[in-house]
Parts: sequence; structure tokens; C-alpha cells
Amino acid sequence: MTVTNEQKTKLVNQAKVAYASAYAPYSKFHVGAAALTAQDNIVSGCNVENASYGLTVCAERNCIAQAVIGGEQDFKTLVIYTEQEKLTPPCGACRQVIVEFFEPQAIIMAVNHLNQSKTWTVDELLPSAFTPKDLI
Ligand code: THU
Repeated sequence: MTVTNEQKTKLVNQAKVAYASAYAPYSKFHVGAAALTAQDNIVSGCNVENASYGLTVCAERNCIAQAVIGGEQDFKTLVIYTEQEKLTPPCGACRQVIVEFFEPQAIIMAVNHLNQSKTWTVDELLPSAFTPKDLI
């Protein structure tokens, strides 16, 4: 699936905007995410923590849910933005949710405030994943 440089720039900008909305009073670890849908729309999300810590939802999962609410279930790529020197990869739970909606060769990109980036394919993040096909 083609993602243009212009779309990449927009995704990074949207992830940065979402980052500013992160609700992370407990960890103080703010995360923003933005995804490009198959129909070329951009959706975004931030992490939302809770006093009952286990109820925290990561930026990536909120971002994906935002698209699903809008009627889109297929994605081309996703960007994760943090202001960490060590680029932030998606957590295990998010990897499983990413696998549900992205092709194995789709690119997931982590970026930071220093304009550094790192990419993985979905398959690299969660090889031998349990997918909807396993239920058939
Ligand atoms: N977090 C995310 O939102 N995405 C990730 O990829 C890693 C972790 C959040 C969850 C929690 O609010 C905080 O970062 C620290 O774990």
C-alpha cells in the first residue's frame, strides 16, 4: 500500500498533536499515534491512563478505535510519536490489535522530537501472530 512523503509528514504532525492531549498523570509517559486508513484518512489517538492503572489504554489502540468508530477497519500505516530518546515501540497488547487491522507487511513507524525514526513491519513486531484467520 502506497504512503506518500506528504502523508508521512501529515501523520507525524497529527501524532504530535495527539501527543499533546495525552492523559498520563501516573506514568508521565506521553504518547501520540496517527494512522493512515485504506481510504487515505488520518485518525489519531493518545494514551489515556486511569487511577485504576490496568485500565490504561495506549495511544495506538485509541487511534485504531477512532477509525473503527468512523467506519474504517483497514489501515496502511501507523506512526507513534514520543519525546523519548529511545524510540517507543508498540506494547504487546497494541501489537495484537495492530495485527487485527493491518497487513503483515504494513509499516509501523516510531518517531521522536529529535526527528529520529525507526520502522518495523507488522510481521516483525508480532511474528506467528494469532489472527482472525485462526478462528476460521
Ligand atoms: N504507552 C502507549 O500509549 N503506547 C506504547 O506504545 C507504549 C506505552 C503508554 C501506556 C501508558 O500510559 C504509558 O505509555 C506508560 O506505559
